[in-house]
Amino acid sequence: MSFGYFDDARRSYVVTDPVPPKPWTNYLTNRRLSALISHQAGGLVWYKEPLTRRISRYHYIPAPADRPGFYVYVSDRTHGTLWNPHFAPTCTALDEYTCRHEPGVSSFCGAKDGVRVEAAYAIPPDDDVMLWQVTVENAGPSPVELQLTSYLEFGLLEFLREMYWCYLKAHIGFSYDAASRAIRYDYHAFEAPFTPRMAFGCTAEVAGFECARDEFIGRAGSLERPTGLTRGVLTNSQIPTGGHGAGVLAVEMALAPGEQRAFAYRLAVADSWDGTDDLLARYGDAPAVARGLQATRDFWGARLETLQAETGDTSVDRFINTWTPYNSLITLQLARIISVDHMGLDGLRYRDSTQDAMAGANLDPQLATEQLRKIFAVQKQDGAGCFAFYPDTPKPPADEPVRSDNTVWQIYSVKNLLAETGDWSFLDERIPYRDGGDDTVYGHILNGLQFIAGRGGTHGLPMLYHADWNDGLALFGDERAESVMLGMQMVHSCREFATLATRLGRDDDAAWCLRVAGEMGAVLNSDLCWDGQWYKRLLMSNGTVLGSAANRQGRIFLNPQSWAVISGLGELDGRGVTSMNAVQSMLDTGSGVAILTPSYIGIPEPEDPPLGSSPGTNENGSVFVHANTWAIIAECLLGRADLAYKYYRQLLPEEVIARVGLERYGREPYVYVSSIVGPQSPRFGEGGISWLTGTVSWMYVAATHHLLGVQPTLDGLRLHPCLPASLPTVHIRRHYRGRRYDITLDNAGRDTQRIEVNGKPLDGDLLPLSDESIIQVKCWC
Ligand code: GLC
Repeated sequence: MSFGYFDDARRSYVVTDPVPPKPWTNYLTNRRLSALISHQAGGLVWYKEPLTRRISRYHYIPAPADRPGFYVYVSDRTHGTLWNPHFAPTCTALDEYTCRHEPGVSSFCGAKDGVRVEAAYAIPPDDDVMLWQVTVENAGPSPVELQLTSYLEFGLLEFLREMYWCYLKAHIGFSYDAASRAIRYDYHAFEAPFTPRMAFGCTAEVAGFECARDEFIGRAGSLERPTGLTRGVLTNSQIPTGGHGAGVLAVEMALAPGEQRAFAYRLAVADSWDGTDDLLARYGDAPAVARGLQATRDFWGARLETLQAETGDTSVDRFINTWTPYNSLITLQLARIISVDHMGLDGLRYRDSTQDAMAGANLDPQLATEQLRKIFAVQKQDGAGCFAFYPDTPKPPADEPVRSDNTVWQIYSVKNLLAETGDWSFLDERIPYRDGGDDTVYGHILNGLQFIAGRGGTHGLPMLYHADWNDGLALFGDERAESVMLGMQMVHSCREFATLATRLGRDDDAAWCLRVAGEMGAVLNSDLCWDGQWYKRLLMSNGTVLGSAANRQGRIFLNPQSWAVISGLGELDGRGVTSMNAVQSMLDTGSGVAILTPSYIGIPEPEDPPLGSSPGTNENGSVFVHANTWAIIAECLLGRADLAYKYYRQLLPEEVIARVGLERYGREPYVYVSSIVGPQSPRFGEGGISWLTGTVSWMYVAATHHLLGVQPTLDGLRLHPCLPASLPTVHIRRHYRGRRYDITLDNAGRDTQRIEVNGKPLDGDLLPLSDESIIQVKCWC
């Protein structure tokens, strides 16, 4: 790949060309202080959430994109050059450039005229401090004189206030504190919620500084050529009573040939100046900063240890071992809040975050539990969820637009959490409803299912309201339409809940669930919903349907076919196989399975004016990657390993890039996108929103629970792989409930699998929860 490569030994992606088609980003976060950082060190930093505590600026609309960020300028006085090790914003050509993104750390190496500068960034797990470690080396034959200068552009913490009133800078101040060698950002807007103290300091002696952005940039200057650096003089400006603040701290050094020097910038955030001083002192020299970087790597390493696999397919391994779990945990934390595609105004989406907790339940049960608590706390007494909520701001949850599926997902994530930990106490935890009263987690889930069941349409399937999982269905403007997909999900959720209820002796609840599943199941397998070769998508209130062979557009939709298999409804007369065959022949593009075909060119009929997304994009016929995860799971459940693996593998970004080209795909090779433009568009192959997407959590589940077949269940780990013959031997290390399972799969696509545990045959496929700390498992499958 021409723009970089994977360095799997260091769990990294290394960007080698500083101008890929889009910003290729990473997240640095300890769940309180967080930063987004690109391959050019563009990005921003915020505390807790970016709507009310956005510390630095990032511009979304202007071109060039991806400015400003966390910059280190190199003024090479000996060679008369000005450059950045991360290329931007000077964009001076470098002799050497790399950007290494790895979980929790991004680092850059730039060299010019024999001067090599490395800049590494991280936010360590236990301290609210962003570290910028700078290492400078003179690799040339003669002495050099250099000035290294930082640039961080502060914004108003309250982002929207800054957007509304750009002039309003009276309630902030920036001044330099010589004792801590730091610029202090003081925010004292009286309406603001709790605002932290922020200090940006340098471990080395500061030769000059600017607190005022405009002094540094200058009236005729720019980020590319800041006047403060082109004229070579910093004015030591301070703006304690307001203005546009910046973190400009200059360090001078003369380096003999072969000499190396390390220092660091740090952005510390605390609730008092004493607190920021403490943090700056704790990371007061280069070795302490290096320890902070290592602590960050250790933090992520521990989480990724949950499951490690060697399948013999390196591209798959790196996604299962590093990038999908990492991406899942970032998404669980940040929902869809902020990325290069999201400006940071969103909250957490009820149904999206519930799904994000699926993978989190396996990778970091504590984080998943915390997020689920927040979700249940915004449910209402009548069982309704909401559209979006904002746990770290005073903004109330948003109920509109109404997503009819909000509460169908919670059983999956909670059950996976219990399956991971074996600790059922979460079910008994009482969590308040948003509008008064409280209930146990068990009660919240059941109430959410009853809420959906109580809003059935004339045929007994859940009504669509604004939309179910598929936002695009809102275009049909038929709130009373009935959703086949949500009906199938209700069948699955109710059955899953019934197993919990039965074990708890709550027989009435189990009976209610099974009755609902039976009644809806009967409708779903009647001719109202079965089209002959596949399941329909939506029963409209005027008697027409979406997703039928009789239609001219939107003839077949992917989701009802996958969910027919997942819910077990497709077992009737082999309908699941029939409909997944239709998916393969009509929807597989070779670069992912399209969400529907043919795309709508006019809604409701082709003659009508086009409405919504253009053909082939988004919900109108793209490869919606999130929906592909259920197709993979469905194929595994049908035991069709080759097809399941094909669907999985063809969506690895590297694979899509190999087929459509990087310029077309555009996005990071190491994380998933939400959708890929489908074949009915001339833009076929273009990657959509990257990083924060519902894809990742389900893709982790598809890959680990279903393809590798290491499934946490209420009774322990179940082993039931579904792998193609092209992977003859697979090794898996799974940490689970305090034990480690070392699993070897001998895969020859056998009809019946056989397992040995510590050399002894096992009955069935449930691995024992025995006393050994390491359990050896061999499986012939
Ligand atoms: C986006 C939304 C998600 C929705 C999906 C399909 O990913 O975040 O909530 O289910 O689109 O419309």
